[in-house]
Amino acid sequence: MKQLIVAALLVFVVGCKKEPAPEASAGNAGPTAEKKLVVGFSQVGAESAWRTAETKSIRGEAEKRGINLKFADAQGKQANQIMAIRSFIAQGVDAIVLAPVVETGWEPVLLEAKAANIPVILVDRGIKVTDESLYTTLIASDFVEEGRMAADWLAKKMGEKGNVVELQGTTGSAPAIDRKKGFEEALKKYPNIAIVKSQSADFSRAKGKEVMEAFIKSDRNNINAVYAHNDDMALGAIQALDEAGMNPGKDVLVVSIDAVKGAFEAMVAGKLNATVECNPLMGPILYDTIAKIRAGEKVPKYTQNKDQLFDQTTAAQVIGSREY
Ligand code: AHR
Repeated sequence: MKQLIVAALLVFVVGCKKEPAPEASAGNAGPTAEKKLVVGFSQVGAESAWRTAETKSIRGEAEKRGINLKFADAQGKQANQIMAIRSFIAQGVDAIVLAPVVETGWEPVLLEAKAANIPVILVDRGIKVTDESLYTTLIASDFVEEGRMAADWLAKKMGEKGNVVELQGTTGSAPAIDRKKGFEEALKKYPNIAIVKSQSADFSRAKGKEVMEAFIKSDRNNINAVYAHNDDMALGAIQALDEAGMNPGKDVLVVSIDAVKGAFEAMVAGKLNATVECNPLMGPILYDTIAKIRAGEKVPKYTQNKDQLFDQTTAAQVIGSREY
């Protein structure tokens, strides 16, 4: 009888043991499991060391935070970016990140994103739209100010006189438009400095070299300085100047924008004179911003990355601590 009672009690205890609810058990994506954030990122391409650093920062930070990042490289074409955004909308992503190749032509696709209620975050470059509500926020440097900083530094180094050739970035892109504008604006203070030639080299090193070769061929005795809208084009121009025996960094001054590792190496070697930093390490601030938007917090329409100028005087000291 005693044995019977013990057995009955055992059956009762085992029967009452609480099993974890199926939704809460490990590895089960039931209703209470946290959903991974899905972000679509349409990147311009890989035209420069700066852009590669930006991609690495945005991808790396997504990985760290467990975010599912859908990455699309547009290879420098706006049409590819529009296609990528449409595909992100169709997939129902939680947010769209866009580094726009050019400033205009975004209204139709951004209207589609707005209709789908997906926030659009612009990184590194702005756009021109009649309705500012088509994007949520922009995180970028002040390109006009970068151009001004380059001009003021160069003018002083040139003794406020001489001829400059300009290598522009991608035609129609915000950094090409604004860096030109800021540079020209600041040069008004120095009437004895002239921009004698100006052409796009699409932010690429190979094209920077090609365009500089053409400038040298057409008027080599009339070039005192080069202003390049990014470091990659400046590095290409330095190669062209070296090959033409024109002594870059000394007989021909060279100033550019971005402050990538290669620019510091060229400054240490005495070939590049100065570079204005444009910070590409967007990952952390980008995902913090997306988290705020999703939490319903108000974010500023524009968050400015702070930039500074580096020249040969500090290059050797600073190069070791550069992150890109
Ligand atoms: O939009 C930022 C610019 O784009 C960088 O200065 C340049 O290197 C790039 O490709």
